[in-house]
Amino acid sequence: MGRYAEEFRRSLEDREGFWRDAAAGIDWVDPPERILDDSTPPMYRWFPDATLNTCWNALDRHVPTRGGQTALIHDSPVTGAVRRWTYAELRDEVARVAGALRDLGVAKGDRVVVYLPMIPEALMTMLACARLGAVHSVVFGGFAAAELATRIGDARPRVVVTASCGVEGSRVLPYKPLLDRALELSEHAPEHCLVLQRPQVAATLVAGRDVDWAEAVAAARPAECVTVRATDPLYILYTSGTTGKPKGVVRDNGGHAVALHWSMSAVYGVAAGEVFWAASDVGWVVGHSYIVYAPLLAGCTTVLYEGKPVGTPDAGAFWRVVADHGVSVLFTAPTAFRAIRKEDPAGEHLARYDVSTLRALYLAGERLDPETYRWAAELLGVPVVDHWWQTETGWPVAANPLGLEALPTKPGSPTVPVPGWDVRVLDAEGAPVPPGVDAALVVRLPLPPGALPTLWRDDERFVSSYLSRHPGHYLTGDGGHLDADGYLYVMGRTDDVINVAGHRLSTGSMEEVLAGHPAVAECAVIGVADQLKGQVPRGFVVLKAGVTAEPAAVAAELVQRVRDEIGAVAALRRVDVVPALPKTRSGKILRASMRAIADGVEAPVPSTIEDPAVLEALRPTLAP
Ligand code: COA
Ligand code: AMP
Repeated sequence: MGRYAEEFRRSLEDREGFWRDAAAGIDWVDPPERILDDSTPPMYRWFPDATLNTCWNALDRHVPTRGGQTALIHDSPVTGAVRRWTYAELRDEVARVAGALRDLGVAKGDRVVVYLPMIPEALMTMLACARLGAVHSVVFGGFAAAELATRIGDARPRVVVTASCGVEGSRVLPYKPLLDRALELSEHAPEHCLVLQRPQVAATLVAGRDVDWAEAVAAARPAECVTVRATDPLYILYTSGTTGKPKGVVRDNGGHAVALHWSMSAVYGVAAGEVFWAASDVGWVVGHSYIVYAPLLAGCTTVLYEGKPVGTPDAGAFWRVVADHGVSVLFTAPTAFRAIRKEDPAGEHLARYDVSTLRALYLAGERLDPETYRWAAELLGVPVVDHWWQTETGWPVAANPLGLEALPTKPGSPTVPVPGWDVRVLDAEGAPVPPGVDAALVVRLPLPPGALPTLWRDDERFVSSYLSRHPGHYLTGDGGHLDADGYLYVMGRTDDVINVAGHRLSTGSMEEVLAGHPAVAECAVIGVADQLKGQVPRGFVVLKAGVTAEPAAVAAELVQRVRDEIGAVAALRRVDVVPALPKTRSGKILRASMRAIADGVEAPVPSTIEDPAVLEALRPTLAP
């Protein structure tokens, strides 16, 4: 039996022994005696009697042995800056930021909403919260005021941390006005906003509420690590669900630290002292896990890249960063490689850089199409690993675990379930399907450490969203199959979630925005295949009787409305005004049939369709 098979078997047959061993990679205040609390299924808790501090594990504990090693590199082509912090420097800076937050009243259990671009202060704020035992909730910068307001309303933070602006390529985007607007909309008012003034734009501060970052941090005394329970929340990360109300995915401290630390060596094959670069954004789970926490828990150097794969300044940007910093493992979304390939199909930029340190490329966030896989593998000449995971899972569910054993790859498959993840494929009745048959991808409970224990203050929604459909299993929301060799194939979401350029978005929430327009009678938003972004949303609306406005004008207003209410990241560029939407006899809009036509895929029209002529009439508008 190979190493992978052995570890996988043990992770399921001797679950507690397996994770007890992995827990030895973490410094505990009170080490775990009990490994898993399974007394109240379907709720499970890992390391219920243990205590620790996550920031200690990410920073302080490394200082005696690797205090002079670079912990963080901020590489920012958009501002022309590259800065480095050693472990000792980063620990000291984070302790001061924690002191500043403490001065603003932040204590254990309090929430801090973080609305920051890809600057070192984002990582420092997250770790400072962890240091205090406070719970951070980072909101991605591409979301607009209303989305930020919803998250502030749900997390009820004591403090919001923001910056005067983000820099997106050549554009400077002021952040503070978005926060001010969000606070007008939100039902919850934080006591303070801590505002970092960037040189590109000066934010206006509200007296009494807003506090200048530089002044507060300069005046603060360093804060020590506060001990928390392994089961205490480390962060909340909101993610798109079926409705407009995002789900507050909770991450605990102990299970998270154990799983992420273990994953760095077992899944990514990376050792302490090496340079790990996740080219994502701290606003997404990839950024939380593999820009901030995992590389630091493992004693690596992490790269925080404030730039794009193309245009900052060219399609050689990624190779430049790898060469400049000696990156061993790069992690990004397939979209980034599609963007590079589009601009530089022959890979000419690569020849300008020495990327010999690069050992492997990991891709996730959306399906990796075999063409992009082959292009990247041929170009780089290193293993390209497609791996599958979600905000909820926190770390990979399926991967080629190079640190354990390099398994043969199959293009189109993220290889095999990672130890700890008992992946099953179930039909609508909950029965396992044979190899090769597509059905619901589920994970048998308990989920391993690091996966979400619940949704923020909403156990009921956690159970109803994920654990009720197939009792005893976690519903991933993805469909796919296992082949006869146990390789997993993820074919796409079975709900209203779409992946646009690796960004997870809800078509349901876009529909809510469109439906809110006074001229709209009904609407549908579907994700259609896109060469660059994987998927993009398209909207279809039927106008109310008597509306006299020009359809094109209404469509333009609707595009703007989604941009204003959800954010630029929604990337809804096209809305069509149509006479009617195809429905079943019971009134359900046939989104799957619309999507099939838009993607040019042959799919049978459901026999329950009310009026086939409506779908036929829509065909030319839908056609790719
Ligand atoms: N703050 C503010 N706005 C943001 C933003 C942020 N952090 N991130 C994206 N946006 C904006 C973009 O500027 C763009 O605005 P526009 O409509 O005014 O041009 C819009 O949101 C859509 O962004 P995106 O879908 O990313 O498209 P793009 O054309 O700007 O870039 C890629 C395309 C492929 C270069 C880009 O998506 C990319 O680098 N993807 C890598 C994948 C990735 O990081 N995934 C994260 C999960 S691993
Ligand atoms: P997010 O929660 O933003 O990480 O998005 C998770 C979703 O992205 C998953 O449910 C999948 O639909 C999709 N996804 C992530 N990784 C992969 C992958 N390797 N292959 C296919 N889909 C993926």
